[in-house]
Amino acid sequence: MSTPAIRRIAICTGGGDAPGLNAVIRAVVVASAQRGWECHGIRDGFNGILFPERYVQGGVQRLTPAMVQGIAHTGGTVLGTTNRGVPLHFPTLLPDGSMGEVDRSRDILDYFAQHQLDALVSVGGDGSLSIAHALHQKGLRVVGVPKTIDNDLDKTVTTFGFDTAVGFATNCLDRLHSTAESHHRVMVVEVMGRYAGWIALHAGIAGNAHAILLPELPFDLDLLASHIQLREAEGHAYTMVVVAEGATPRGGHTVLQEAAHIGQAERLGGMGEQVAHALQRQTGKEARIVVLGHLLRGGSPTAFDRLAALRFGAAAVRALEAGMSGVMVALAYPNVNYVALADVAGRMKAVPLDSDTLQTARDLGICLGA
Ligand code: F6P
Repeated sequence: MSTPAIRRIAICTGGGDAPGLNAVIRAVVVASAQRGWECHGIRDGFNGILFPERYVQGGVQRLTPAMVQGIAHTGGTVLGTTNRGVPLHFPTLLPDGSMGEVDRSRDILDYFAQHQLDALVSVGGDGSLSIAHALHQKGLRVVGVPKTIDNDLDKTVTTFGFDTAVGFATNCLDRLHSTAESHHRVMVVEVMGRYAGWIALHAGIAGNAHAILLPELPFDLDLLASHIQLREAEGHAYTMVVVAEGATPRGGHTVLQEAAHIGQAERLGGMGEQVAHALQRQTGKEARIVVLGHLLRGGSPTAFDRLAALRFGAAAVRALEAGMSGVMVALAYPNVNYVALADVAGRMKAVPLDSDTLQTARDLGICLGA
């Protein structure tokens, strides 16, 4: 039996925003229009469907090529996004007055059926792609597009947003070198990345950091302090340390801003500050902390991210046209390809300990604290 032809699709962006989301939206809308399909944008993940009353102009809106003109180079997402409230475990006030989690996926499927939406392009990270996989298993035609500055999604060479984040962090390190050197300080720079050290490693090497702490390699603070003292003895009175927010001391644990609770994942952050205090205590040198945080998620996507995002969006539309579902567009140099959402959902891609990039850091004399 052949797959029914597509006439109308929907697109949503979920999870933390990343530079390049608007480029995906533009590509999906324009490539759909080229095929005579309508494309509709869902607001704020699936909130546009789950809470229509919140949206004066409607939680789901038709998008035309004219509406997405000139957005590919802009940061954020014109559709809005959320990283709270996964529809499969939606925070809900239960009849007994307590808060619980309810599966709202049926409401999404019903909306698609009632509004004759034939398929969904879901742009997101691990959380959004897991939802996309579950919706596909429940019968919806879905294609996923991999987004995250953290680059921690499996089965794709890279995600869009990562290059922009690394470029910005590298720029910041370039600027911090001179002030750290002038004041003979230890400068600790904390970057996002959750449980993967991709941003820290790539920006740390590109930005000439002297030490990089990654979640993949629990660190020994004494080693780091000795590295700083050795540099001092060799006449280098300053040290640049990049700390991934998910880095942990050997035998210790992740530092959280906020523990996980109903509808929200745990919020990491604070390890940089702990490392700076400990280094100041141990080395007697003044240590300062800079947390790049959400600055890494903002701004205009680099040409690399913009192109990747446009390619991903167009490839998602081609996948739907070819009758595919339950797949994610992936970058597999020199082309894009398609991988099963089942092979991506719930899997995190950490920095491999045998990667040449990690080896490069060691060969450059960068201290990894392990
Ligand atoms: O997009 C992923 C990410 O940037 C992580 O690196 C970070 O831990 C998280 O988002 C922060 O999210 P929020 O916007 O909820 O603080």
